[in-house]
Amino acid sequence: PALTSILNTHDFAHAAQHSIPAKTWAFYSSAATDSHTHAANTAMYARIWFRPRVLRDVSSVSIKARFLGCAAVDMPIYVAPAAMARMVHVEGERAIARACARKGVLQCISTSASFPASQIVPVAPPAHPFFFQLYINSNRAKCAALIREIAAMPQIRGIMITVDAPVVGKREADERIRADETLHAPMSGQQAKNDAKGGGMGRVMGRYIDPSFHWEEIAWVRGLYSGPLMLKGVQTAADARMAVEYGVQGIVVSNHGGRCLDTSPPSILALLDIQRNAPEVFDKMEVYVDGGIRRGTDIVKALCLGATGVGLGRPFLYSLAYGTEGVEHLIDILRDEIETTMRLLGANSLSDLHPGMVNTADVDHL
Ligand code: FNR
Repeated sequence: PALTSILNTHDFAHAAQHSIPAKTWAFYSSAATDSHTHAANTAMYARIWFRPRVLRDVSSVSIKARFLGCAAVDMPIYVAPAAMARMVHVEGERAIARACARKGVLQCISTSASFPASQIVPVAPPAHPFFFQLYINSNRAKCAALIREIAAMPQIRGIMITVDAPVVGKREADERIRADETLHAPMSGQQAKNDAKGGGMGRVMGRYIDPSFHWEEIAWVRGLYSGPLMLKGVQTAADARMAVEYGVQGIVVSNHGGRCLDTSPPSILALLDIQRNAPEVFDKMEVYVDGGIRRGTDIVKALCLGATGVGLGRPFLYSLAYGTEGVEHLIDILRDEIETTMRLLGANSLSDLHPGMVNTADVDHL
């Protein structure tokens, strides 16, 4: 379909499913085992209701945000780190970066990106901010070299260490379809190829991740990087408290888009759990959330519940089937949906949003 007929993230997913290679669709869309968490990530947002206020002057609305106190962004969303964007478009993460730079959106670059960060960051003007997502390589010398390389790029304003994937989840759709070309992830040094077990691109590409990495080793990363650090994949109030204790500047409440532990909680429920059982952490660090976010209403609900910003993964990969233009169109759609939601809710800026603006009664017993 023509880009102009794409009205929402679902249209992008539908268009991608019917136009991109079957292996690419399987790798991008798949989730762990029975995909319960993947489905619930989105579905749970529909069980939270707004408490809209009326008769407030909503003629002007600002959705500008600031991430980690250092990165000014035009919208409270970011591109969640995702591997191998080149499978859908030859310019991959570079094409996403161009769209983000034009629209003032922050992109988090994955360790498993199909280009090195040094070839992604320069496509944006020097003031445009990025984050970097780090997988801890079992080869610590390689890992240290990568962290030093990232630390030397001033456009990268923070690192998120992914902590929910000490091993890669079992994604059967990805396993079933074999790859017919070998792809490379330059920063991890991994290659996607079939093995005796099947075609699982996620599994093969994630083999270098060190399952022994633990809390005490955050200091090792800190020794190599003085900028803001976040932990991506925190899912409980107990771990959110530990993140504060271990001195990181932020967490991303995430279950990896349902791709790791199936039946781990939908991420908005995990955010709510932290809001209820560890409310103090929101004053001590920034809290982000990703997973299943498909609408402006989803985004605003997460912000009401304390998120500084939200990440979207698959929607950006699907929009990339249309190149940079597709990614820009997706950002325009989301901006419009967020602004409309804010106006209808009676909010003029992000600082107006608070937990009292949502009714969570339907999920409070979960
Ligand atoms: C991911 N995700 C991910 N996360 C990460 O920390 N490092 C990575 O390399 C990847 N790679 C990756 C590839 C693909 C194809 C997907 C779909 C996801 C997880 C990602 O950052 C994010 O947590 C989820 O994508 C959010 O869920 P939604 O928005 O895709 O539902």
